[in-house]
Amino acid sequence: MVQVLRTSILFIVIVAVLGVQTCFGQINRGSFPKGFVFGTASSAYQYEGAVKVDGRGPTIWDKFAHSFGKVLDFSNADVAVDQYHLYSEDVKLMKDMGMDAYRFSIAWTRLYPNGTGELNQAGVDHYNNVINTLLANGIEPYVTIYHWDLPQALDDRYNGWLSPQIINDFAVFAETCFLKFGDRVKHWITFNEPHTFSVQGYDVGLQAPGRCSILLHAFCRAGNSATEPYIVGHNVLLAHSTVVDIYKRKYKPKQKGSIGITLDTFWYEPASNSTEDIQATKRAIDFNLGWFLEPLIVGDYPSSMKTRVGNRLPKFSQAQSLALKGAFDFIGINHYTTWYAKNNSTNIIGLLLNDSLSDSGAMTFPFKGLKPIADRANSIWLYIVPHGIRSLMNYIKQTYGNPLVIITENGMDDGNSPFNSIQNALKDEKRIKYHNDYLTNLLAAVKEDGCNVQGYFVWSLLDNWEWGAGFSSRFGLYYVDFNDKLERYAKDSVKWFKNFLVST
Ligand SMILES: *[C@@H]1O[C@H](CO)[C@@H](O)[C@H](O)[C@H]1NC(C)=O
Ligand SMILES: *[C@@H]1O[C@H](CO)[C@@H](O)[C@H](O)[C@H]1NC(C)=O
Ligand SMILES: *[C@@H]1O[C@H](CO)[C@@H](O)[C@H](O)[C@H]1NC(C)=O
Ligand SMILES: *[C@@H]1O[C@H](CO)[C@@H](O)[C@H](O)[C@H]1NC(C)=O
Ligand SMILES: *[C@@H]1O[C@H](CO)[C@@H](O)[C@H](O)[C@H]1NC(C)=O
Repeated sequence: MVQVLRTSILFIVIVAVLGVQTCFGQINRGSFPKGFVFGTASSAYQYEGAVKVDGRGPTIWDKFAHSFGKVLDFSNADVAVDQYHLYSEDVKLMKDMGMDAYRFSIAWTRLYPNGTGELNQAGVDHYNNVINTLLANGIEPYVTIYHWDLPQALDDRYNGWLSPQIINDFAVFAETCFLKFGDRVKHWITFNEPHTFSVQGYDVGLQAPGRCSILLHAFCRAGNSATEPYIVGHNVLLAHSTVVDIYKRKYKPKQKGSIGITLDTFWYEPASNSTEDIQATKRAIDFNLGWFLEPLIVGDYPSSMKTRVGNRLPKFSQAQSLALKGAFDFIGINHYTTWYAKNNSTNIIGLLLNDSLSDSGAMTFPFKGLKPIADRANSIWLYIVPHGIRSLMNYIKQTYGNPLVIITENGMDDGNSPFNSIQNALKDEKRIKYHNDYLTNLLAAVKEDGCNVQGYFVWSLLDNWEWGAGFSSRFGLYYVDFNDKLERYAKDSVKWFKNFLVST
């Protein structure tokens, strides 16, 4: 009898220990530090639609999307997912999932239809309604001030980001946001992905305003890929520090919010252990992340950029450098994937491109020989490499002094096949695994490596209009039926997040 009892107790103890281990293996909200924020992300042009409603003015993306051949499926975002009208319903979806926060952007041309001039009250009213609805439902707004939708009027007047004139116009728009919404918005992001819009818009020409000179101007009528991306990036950085200064001096003391910037970056791994490939990997990271992060930490561009770009890279004055240094409360990071990098030892591509990609002297690929780095999502660039986020967080900690980081985007897309039923599209095990694995690595970066990360936003709440990919790419936790009244349906990943967020 005693023997049996002892055996049973031993058995129970073993089960209990295994049980605990299973709990540790399965991450949830409770695995993260207290106060860690979970949310979803979006942007005005990809979500709102209603492009001619209530006085909104045209943007460079309206023009670009309506130019023939710029968008894969010949679509545009005139309607998008109509969040302009459906925001109340969408806030309920966030609340139902248990999300803490929502990252969205304010369309400049809803407040200033021509970029400058008279304020359009209907635009202010709209964002007041959105913010109030979020707060009434316990969702914290994280507001991006500029998410690529430059007023067309400013592109026409002085070529937008190519002119330093934009710094003041952007500052007026940003200050209007603080003035009108800052009593309730406590998290501001000045820019979304300056690296992407500098390179895609002004170097390779695949995004608005579609300027470039690569391949002997075969793609773009106007542009200079060897100089313009750097000029744009420079004006963006100066606009950022100007706006952060205004916020910190005039609004933060009363409003008590925080302000940062969102930078996009791949992680890169050396294609071999050779010194030249390891050095090339560092350059690839400098030309992607360091370009914008290093000026905010040390007040200047990475030395690899200064050496390789030479006098095509604009210089900061001492006062500008001082203003940039430390101009953030947090750094937003949009991270999706990891590629290999190797030293460029031929100059064929360089002669044809003469741009920021060739300047880096690094060639980056998602392949080694014919072998892909990992399984892929729908987008041709999006390989699923969960440990990359942990390496990236450690790199930022070690290189830049462990600044406060918020993951402002992470996610993966499925295709949009007409042959796939809605029911089938809702079964997104691959997305569940993506988030589980990236979050597991992020948790390790926080708990085991001491990286200072305090939030995670999924891209995206809904399937939406994915820039040059149009509607062909579905990044949402919710499926949107583009053929039938933009009806939203929960994918299985919604159930997964709901469970993740209630468990502690
Ligand atoms: C914007 O510019 C257009 C064309 O120059 C003009 O017709 C319109 O009145 C302007 N709108 C505002 C709100 O300033
Ligand atoms: C690359 O572009 C720059 C700036 O326009 C120009 O000065 C340089 O001559 C170009 N180099 C080549 C190899 O075409
Ligand atoms: C580089 O060296 C490490 C340690 O020796 C090894 O694990 C790794 O596979 C090597 N990487 C490549 C790309 O050869
Ligand atoms: C990298 O490639 C360049 C040719 O583009 C070559 O000049 C350079 O020596 C290589 N770097 C190393 C460290 O081998
Ligand atoms: C490769 O290196 C050559 C020679 O240094 C340079 O002219 C070219 O721009 C580089 N190309 C790329 C894609 O890095």
